[in-house]
Amino acid sequence: MSGRFITFEGIDGAGKSTHIEALAQRLRQGGCEVVNTREPGGTDLAERLRELVLHQRMDALTEALLVFAARRDHVQTLVAPALERGATVLCDRFTDATFAYQGAGRGFDAAVLSQLEQWVHGALQPDLTLWLDLPAETAAQRRAQARAADRFESEDLAFFERVRAGYAQRCAQAPQRFVRIDSSLERGAVWAQIAAELERRGW
Ligand code: TMP
Repeated sequence: MSGRFITFEGIDGAGKSTHIEALAQRLRQGGCEVVNTREPGGTDLAERLRELVLHQRMDALTEALLVFAARRDHVQTLVAPALERGATVLCDRFTDATFAYQGAGRGFDAAVLSQLEQWVHGALQPDLTLWLDLPAETAAQRRAQARAADRFESEDLAFFERVRAGYAQRCAQAPQRFVRIDSSLERGAVWAQIAAELERRGW
């Protein structure tokens, strides 16, 4: 595959959307084909599964299976073809979110998640993961000013602290791929860190 696969991660309220849009614009200005997508979602089927995952009550195994089912369709029909034709894919969340939310957040067995990861997207991994990190409390304050909460957003502070710790663990396990961005700063300072990382890689 010749394109680049860049994922954005972080607890709800970390401010991913603004920066994904800014990065898409910057890359397009540089002449890249950019595919801007998200998980769960990105295809008709995966968006329908997203609705269920975000709003329907279910146990942690069902939740994990549905996010991976959505991911399978998304990778097969959108992400892999885009990378094959040389596009840059910007994806709002990917499998690290499953380890952070279903694994660390819900306490689901990480070994089972690794097995599912292997089945669903085998060797395909992001080239770069930008982890927008901030304290759970700051994120909660930001969320309070935004939209109505879904099943995840209405979780308590302790849940988001576990999710954040889950991201920290993923970051430590893949230091080449995973870059921590301090997202507690104001918007311009967060963007500067992202731009510097891209610059450092010559992208
Ligand atoms: P978003 O609001 O950032 O689009 O993410 C949707 C929610 O889905 C978010 O609260 C995190 C959750 N999620 C999981 O629990 N597991 C996953 O694998 C993914 C991709 C998202």
